[in-house]
Amino acid sequence: MIKLIKTPQQDQLLIENNTNGLQGKISVPGDKSISHRALMLGAIASGQTTIKGLLLGEDPRSTAKCFQAMGATISELNTERVIVEGIGTKGLQEPKNILDAGNSGTTMRLMLGLLASQPHQFFIVTGDDSLRTRPMSRVVKPLQEMGAVIYGREDNKNAPLAVVGQNLKPIHYHSPIASAQVKSCILLAGLMSEGKTTVTEPALSRDHSERMLRAFGAKLEIDPHSHSVTIEGKTPLQGQKVVVPGDISSAAFWLVAGAIMPDSELVIENVGVNPTRVGVLEALEMMGANITLENQRETAGEPVADLRVKSSTLKGCTIEGDIIPRLIDEVPILAVAACFAKGTTVIKDAEELRVKESDRISVMALELGKMGAKISELPDGLEITGGYALRGATVDSFTDHRIAMSLAIAGLTAKGTTTINRAEAASISYPTFVDTLQQVTR
Ligand code: S3P
Repeated sequence: MIKLIKTPQQDQLLIENNTNGLQGKISVPGDKSISHRALMLGAIASGQTTIKGLLLGEDPRSTAKCFQAMGATISELNTERVIVEGIGTKGLQEPKNILDAGNSGTTMRLMLGLLASQPHQFFIVTGDDSLRTRPMSRVVKPLQEMGAVIYGREDNKNAPLAVVGQNLKPIHYHSPIASAQVKSCILLAGLMSEGKTTVTEPALSRDHSERMLRAFGAKLEIDPHSHSVTIEGKTPLQGQKVVVPGDISSAAFWLVAGAIMPDSELVIENVGVNPTRVGVLEALEMMGANITLENQRETAGEPVADLRVKSSTLKGCTIEGDIIPRLIDEVPILAVAACFAKGTTVIKDAEELRVKESDRISVMALELGKMGAKISELPDGLEITGGYALRGATVDSFTDHRIAMSLAIAGLTAKGTTTINRAEAASISYPTFVDTLQQVTR
């Protein structure tokens, strides 16, 4: 039984141990990272952009609202076709009110690169309780090196942030972290500035910005050996037809569910398999998961495939190093997989998880611990010994979408009822998660 209780006081997902295997052919909503970028580039391009398969989650809605407030015309959001009437790279208007990025780090960090480079305009950017605690200095500092004027709470670390737009100068920024949000923020600021701006990162982070900027007409040089990207400033963008593939971060819940539940076989259609995002497939392969990629193809500049997963016997492994940026959002659900793997799984080099929508290291250790998992926190990751049966418990999402959904999958195999408080958080990236859960457990 799967039951969603939504009242003003209660927002709970109740999951009963599911003895039947999971079966079916499903699809997942559009990729969150690509959805944000399609809305943003569409807004600052000239002419019309159409977006098919946009994620209708709360995060892209935040992006759409912010850019509408700055003058872009964006049609009603739907999965069929969203039309963005671009206003050109020089066309963003000073908004009449505060810009609210909601729960979305991508909205805030990418948008800051654009705001900082709008001369003579003033902006205030804020977000929800979670986003206002997340570090913004990682983008504020390099933007200040480019000449940006930005003030924020806690010595410019936290939102709300006030921005007085300037003519920025190009830089070569050596980012201390592999972060697509930092990289994309600086590339967008570089696009608005005269000259060439370069970002070098310690390991390759997702490259959706690079792919989409190129498709919209920006001039980019990419050096894969040094993980560097250079953008030539003041190049106009032209509206495009964007097709958003299914989000591999959402597919990951079903990949793990299908692998850990006996008698299961699921096909997840139309999933983006960009090489900078498939760390979860590599990690699950190391653990022995039975996953195959079928019908591989390319859609609007992004590789796509159908993923088939069957029940599997998993074994523990070590996940560390350069693979981490390529699976960073999937660590919570990989922690669930590790509970069902023989031996110990160690996840290291993932300290970034502490500054996501929640501290995902401590929250997963705490909540899976309540269900009987043998899991402990490392400063930069988790150590999990599999083979200890999970039992139903009352757990909490900490309003983090990926925590809510990971705990729901854990609940499918736990003895008794699992109650997930504040489960509505799933709507940030996967508003139809409960429907699909009901579909595959039927
Ligand atoms: C994202 C980049 C990642 C990821 C986030 C989305 C993006 O964050 O965790 O969910 O769309 O650029 P970082 O850039 O902070 O690693």
